Amino acid sequence: MLKDPSAKYRPFPPVHLPDRQWPSRTLTHAPSWCSVDLRDGNQALAVPMNVGQKLELFQTLVKCGFKEIEVGFPSASNTEFTFNRRLIEEQRAPEDVWLQVLVQAREELIERTFESLVGAKKVIIHLYNSTSPAQRRVVFGMSKEEILQVAVRGAQWVQDRLPRLAGTEVRLQYSVESFSATEVEFAKEAAEAVMAVWKPTPQHKMILNLPDTVEVAGPNVYADQIEWIGRNIKHRDSLIISLHAHNDRSTGVAATELGLLAGADRVEGTLFGNGERTGNLDIVTVALNLYMHGIDPKLDFTDLNAICEVYERCTGMTVPPRHPYAGELVFTAFSGSHQDAIKKGLAEWETGRQKYWDVPYLTIDPNDLGREYREVIRVNSQSGKGGVAYLLENEYGIVLPKEMQREFGPIANEEVDRLGREVSGAELKGMFWREYIERTAPWQLQGFETESRDGKVRCRARLLHDGKPVEFSGEGNGPLAALVHGFSTAGVPRFEIANYSEHALSAGEEAAAIAYIQIKPSNGRTRWGAGVDTNIELASVRAVLSALNRS
Ligand code: KIV
Ligand code: ZN
Repeated sequence: MLKDPSAKYRPFPPVHLPDRQWPSRTLTHAPSWCSVDLRDGNQALAVPMNVGQKLELFQTLVKCGFKEIEVGFPSASNTEFTFNRRLIEEQRAPEDVWLQVLVQAREELIERTFESLVGAKKVIIHLYNSTSPAQRRVVFGMSKEEILQVAVRGAQWVQDRLPRLAGTEVRLQYSVESFSATEVEFAKEAAEAVMAVWKPTPQHKMILNLPDTVEVAGPNVYADQIEWIGRNIKHRDSLIISLHAHNDRSTGVAATELGLLAGADRVEGTLFGNGERTGNLDIVTVALNLYMHGIDPKLDFTDLNAICEVYERCTGMTVPPRHPYAGELVFTAFSGSHQDAIKKGLAEWETGRQKYWDVPYLTIDPNDLGREYREVIRVNSQSGKGGVAYLLENEYGIVLPKEMQREFGPIANEEVDRLGREVSGAELKGMFWREYIERTAPWQLQGFETESRDGKVRCRARLLHDGKPVEFSGEGNGPLAALVHGFSTAGVPRFEIANYSEHALSAGEEAAAIAYIQIKPSNGRTRWGAGVDTNIELASVRAVLSALNRS
């Protein structure tokens, strides 16, 4: 890299708009959306989609609720042309879906594009030419005047052929390609030149697409450019102003959101931001950003995993694990403090007392996108007791008392740290079972009977201690008190029950009940034990033995 980048690069000239309005506006409704997955997204793939893959992705886009879909560049190749014809001849587009096709301002390409559209119900013919200083100088070697002529000629060739599409509802779209790198005054001139040919009206508007073809400045500059055009262009009420951002500076989403604040009506983009270079704008993210503010995005991503699957299969691209809303890890917390906060937040949400979603670290309810709470908390060495307890509870219905979580959390954490990887709920349950349930030495239960008389409970316990039979009786207010008493008569150092809880285990578990008991020895460490049994009384006896065995 250069020590002095200013020797090679220069700042982007700002738009003069001192009374800009967009910074103090708020988004209140969804724009109209146009998916360009099958065109811009497709033309960026190392191996473009075949007709079958395009058809599958088209169906998915329709299912998501897109009403405008740029289906391709029919004059560019036979595959593109055939795809268009199949969509039309097999009537694959629902009545309310517009098929959009892209074409350059060249007569033979416009001719072929019209051939591809015969018989369609609703089409958007999307004409474009590039206008930025670099494109004018390097690619076309044309003056501004000549560039305007390209646009006007193209518009006229389209206009001349419209009668061929009698019976088809047609909307026209013009893209000032490389708009964001073009002087705003010249972009306006190009758009107005095309408008002079197409003569849009408020009743029959045309789409004016203002692409951020390459992000060359911050999203605030794009917003200024959009607001400037909206305020200065003739016949604004005859236009649908459309945004088409790419993501070179990684601010395609921001540019689009600010562009909407600046007055745009429509957004073009792709699922998960596939597209040239760093991609097109990611429509899923913008739509769900609206959704998380309570605005109906008018797109449905209820089963986002299924949409990801189709997308990955058709495009050969992958959705990265940290991709907003869709990535595998975006609703997952490994860190202990995050897990704890999420666990508490979800517990509060489940009480139904909170009207609005406000769970720490989760901007949106994963369930709304078909994601499960079980993937929210995953356990590795960064995790704490909360995550461990959450998995045991959610996957196995094992509800550890708070204080016991404090004991078992570090035990599990040490084991997970030793393994050096993420662990599953099943592995955690295994650790819990080994630590508490499966301990049979020195004490092992052989039999335990109780009888109640005169408000007292008497017990008879048959045990093995280091394999040797031990029998004793005891008396108390309940079976546990009787057991504790019995142990004292058998010469076991005195202890008392400091904590007790029990609950039924979920169906399918090998035992019906689990008991948790904390014992407090007169001369030793306070510790927990746990026991499972089909009989709740025996589960608690086993829990006492488990605690004694953990001395
Ligand atoms: O990025 C772009 O400018 C385009 C146009 C053709 C709309 O894709
Ligand atoms: Zn593009």
